[in-house]
Amino acid sequence: MKALVLSGGAGTRLRPITHTSAKQLVPVANKPVLFYGLEAIADAGITEVGIVVGDTADEIREAVGDGSRFGVEVTYIPQDAPLGLAHAVLIAQDFLGDDDFVMYLGDNFIVGGITDLVDAFREDRPDAQILLTKVPDPTSFGVAELDTEGHVVGLEEKPKQPKSDLALVGVYLFTPAIHEAVRSITPSWRGELEITHAIQWLIDAERRVRSTTISGYWKDTGNVTDMLEVNRSVLESVQPLNEGTVDEASELIGRVRIEAGATVTGSRIVGPAIVGAGSVVREAYIGPFTSVSEDCRIEDSEIEYSIVLRGSSVTGVRRVEASLIGRDVEVTPAPRHPSAHRLVLGDHSKVQISS
Ligand code: DAU
Repeated sequence: MKALVLSGGAGTRLRPITHTSAKQLVPVANKPVLFYGLEAIADAGITEVGIVVGDTADEIREAVGDGSRFGVEVTYIPQDAPLGLAHAVLIAQDFLGDDDFVMYLGDNFIVGGITDLVDAFREDRPDAQILLTKVPDPTSFGVAELDTEGHVVGLEEKPKQPKSDLALVGVYLFTPAIHEAVRSITPSWRGELEITHAIQWLIDAERRVRSTTISGYWKDTGNVTDMLEVNRSVLESVQPLNEGTVDEASELIGRVRIEAGATVTGSRIVGPAIVGAGSVVREAYIGPFTSVSEDCRIEDSEIEYSIVLRGSSVTGVRRVEASLIGRDVEVTPAPRHPSAHRLVLGDHSKVQISS
């Protein structure tokens, strides 16, 4: 069995932070969301992984390399334009050959991995196995309609009037039967070859399509509330570890991970929390569910339930909560006179000021 990971597509424009144009590299608890997918694939015992790449190919290649650190062997499959998920299967045909495969969308996050799912597929071998989850607004997903016995009877891509609240999650398992399906469909109204239509083609051809419904699911939508929440849920399982330097005046409470080369002095950190490699925390309080990335400075400040990305500093500020701070950002107090907020905010920024 092989894996096909989709990390192509155009760079994202509407994210609140523009630290990377590849949405698959958005960090969750200091690790790109794509890496969780690759780890889940390796955990399921799959070692041959094809990664479909587009405009952001260089960034993805630089982050993932040859896959050896995940215990997999990566083949990169360039896609000239984001012509759809089924198009990605079409162009991956040489790589996939006659093998069964799991298709994994690189911007999706599945709590608990995919091992059980892959094992169940290996045993039963339906032509397609899809994953579903209940979502509040199904109109931005593929949506499945099930009959009273739970069989999939129909699928629609981003319907205006969804027939259920069951969205297609971005992990699909296929036998080689999918190849005829992707060759048989035509582009949708948005000009893409939809995998949803290819699976509908299998249903119409009376091939076996099975579904499983899961609950722990997240996808990068650029929504900060969702990002903080997925960060929180991943930090729930962080293990305490200290690879940095913590002085005697500091207190680490609960599950706190201090990565290599980080320095903590005169500070209190209440887990679950992570301080990334090379970061400096001085005379500060870091509260639960906070991820501080590499090379940051948190000084004379309090921060909780937040994400701070690489190279940023928060100095002399109390108190920061429920915030997403991008790369190379500086947060400092304003001078006392004149009493005014001074802002340099990038595109699509959002700021809430207590005044
Ligand atoms: O996330 C789940 C949803 O993913 C499903 O519910 C939908 O049925 C499915 O069509 C897909 O919808 P999106 O419109 O959200 O897919 P998106 O364009 O965001 O692409 C998903 C991933 O695949 C993303 O990592 C980019 C990559 N991709 C996308 C396209 C269109 C490619 O590598 N090549 C492509 O041509």
